[in-house]
Amino acid sequence: MASVPSLASTLHQRITDALSAALPEAGVVDPLLRRSDRADFQANGMLALAKKLKGNPRELATKVVEGLPTGDVIQDVEVSGPGFLNITVADAAITRTLAARAADDRLGVPFAKAAGTTVIDWAQPNVAKEMHVGHLRSAVIGDATVKILEFTGEKVISRHHIGDWGTQFGMLIQYLIEHPHELDHKDGASGEEAMSNLNRLYKAARALFDADAEFKERARRRVVDLQAGDEETLALWQRFVDESKIYFYSVFDKLDMEIHDENVVGESGYNDMLAETCRLLEESGVAVRSEGALCVFFEDVKGPDGNPVPLIVQKSDGGYGYAATDLSAIRDRVQNLKANTLLYVVDARQALHFKMVFETARRIGWLNEDVHAVQLAFGTVLGKDGKPFKTREGETVRLVDLLDEAVSRATDVVREKAEKVGLSEQEIVENGRQVGIGAVKYADLSTSAARDYKFDLDQMVSLNGDTSVYLQYAYARIRSILRRAGEAKPVAHPELALAPAERALGLHLDQFGETLHEVAGSYEPHKLAGYLYQLASLYTTFYDQCQVLSDQNAPELVENRLFLCDLTARTLHQGMALLGIRTPERL
Ligand code: ARG
Repeated sequence: MASVPSLASTLHQRITDALSAALPEAGVVDPLLRRSDRADFQANGMLALAKKLKGNPRELATKVVEGLPTGDVIQDVEVSGPGFLNITVADAAITRTLAARAADDRLGVPFAKAAGTTVIDWAQPNVAKEMHVGHLRSAVIGDATVKILEFTGEKVISRHHIGDWGTQFGMLIQYLIEHPHELDHKDGASGEEAMSNLNRLYKAARALFDADAEFKERARRRVVDLQAGDEETLALWQRFVDESKIYFYSVFDKLDMEIHDENVVGESGYNDMLAETCRLLEESGVAVRSEGALCVFFEDVKGPDGNPVPLIVQKSDGGYGYAATDLSAIRDRVQNLKANTLLYVVDARQALHFKMVFETARRIGWLNEDVHAVQLAFGTVLGKDGKPFKTREGETVRLVDLLDEAVSRATDVVREKAEKVGLSEQEIVENGRQVGIGAVKYADLSTSAARDYKFDLDQMVSLNGDTSVYLQYAYARIRSILRRAGEAKPVAHPELALAPAERALGLHLDQFGETLHEVAGSYEPHKLAGYLYQLASLYTTFYDQCQVLSDQNAPELVENRLFLCDLTARTLHQGMALLGIRTPERL
């Protein structure tokens, strides 16, 4: 495993050095190097610097140029405009760098210099409830984030903070006691069957709870038993959790995601810590009693009436809520799991909750300069009409139905081309799954998480535009060229001059590692999606402009172009895998 410095970073270093040599009194200055349309790169850091030191930017730029070694990496550098540097990279340097990437399993991507431990809270559905599109977003963004962070060398611990505790369990358990066969089914029941049982029971229990005051009272007493740890009650509660897990896992499986049981630590997992958490908060004065409840107040959090709205850690009846659990989870993640970073992939509508929870944890010192917490907040999934996604009857859309629909649409798309490609029925079905699930994930990951997005299946499975299918086809097309190449193999030939489309593709391939580190640092998987889409587009241009397998080409040219094809395919494959999306070999 050898990490490969990108051409941009090599250039960056060289210009920084030349700048320091030309202007020692300025110290280390960022030359502000960017990709550019005029040349390959442009550096305009000289402008602001000369202005600051009251010098002449063109003169400074000229001095920097004199100090820059040329010949190997830099083919040409010139001063332009008021004092920019335009830099053209040598073709041989591009091919050599790419060859070094190709020789490495990790495509030359370095590990992060300062890797730490991140505990990431993602995919957190609620027991006895159907999963909805919000849970889809947390799962899709979380899964990609885990993979990206791990790829950079970060130690990542997942926590699925499922909603498995609360007063509603009194009602559910009491109903099950009175109707003991409601959750029965054959062994090996499907996730859907488990969910439909739970759903039916939930509705029936709720109806009885609302209609029958005596049942309501029995349900209330059942909550007390549950909280007191009564064994029979706990065993029934466990049944709800287990049934729900059958369903959750079936959805995650459909989503082609691996969720490990040891990482499912729901709200109930922190029960033993709640009292202590409250004690610590109260003793330190971070939380105070107000009308019997234990509260934390904030300067800037006020209700519509102008009165402060506190974070309630313990209710006046002694009950603990969502905040107490999250504060306990922070203690656990920091003190036991030794996290440096706590990441929460949760709906933006919970932003105020997390703001208050994090601020509370900071006040008491559980979060500090060494440990910080971030909510990777995501927006709402909208229907085609731009309103929050609902069925025609106004109910939340069942996630499973959506996924099935996506797979069925994708299968149609795959089938249309299947004959030409010679796919068997089994391959059509398998590819349909990979394309359909990929489409749903990509639609979610290709816009910034914070934004709302429209769930539009027609657009998602379209072959044109910024979709996963487009990327998957680009990949499959390259794989088919490599198969058709027969004896000819991908071999880099740095002695060959590159066509403009080859240079553009090559320079973009070289940016893979930097893009990944940027994406990992800012938790922005959409920037990886953007990178991959651009890669596929540049490949398409290359493919249109440069014949790969042609008798007219010298064998070295064929090999070098196959080399570019191969590295593009590997980069696409790796990038898509980090987004949790498969790339079928034949499509
Ligand atoms: N179960 C919650 C929901 O469905 C999300 C949990 C988010 N994580 C957390 N630590 N609070 O909205």
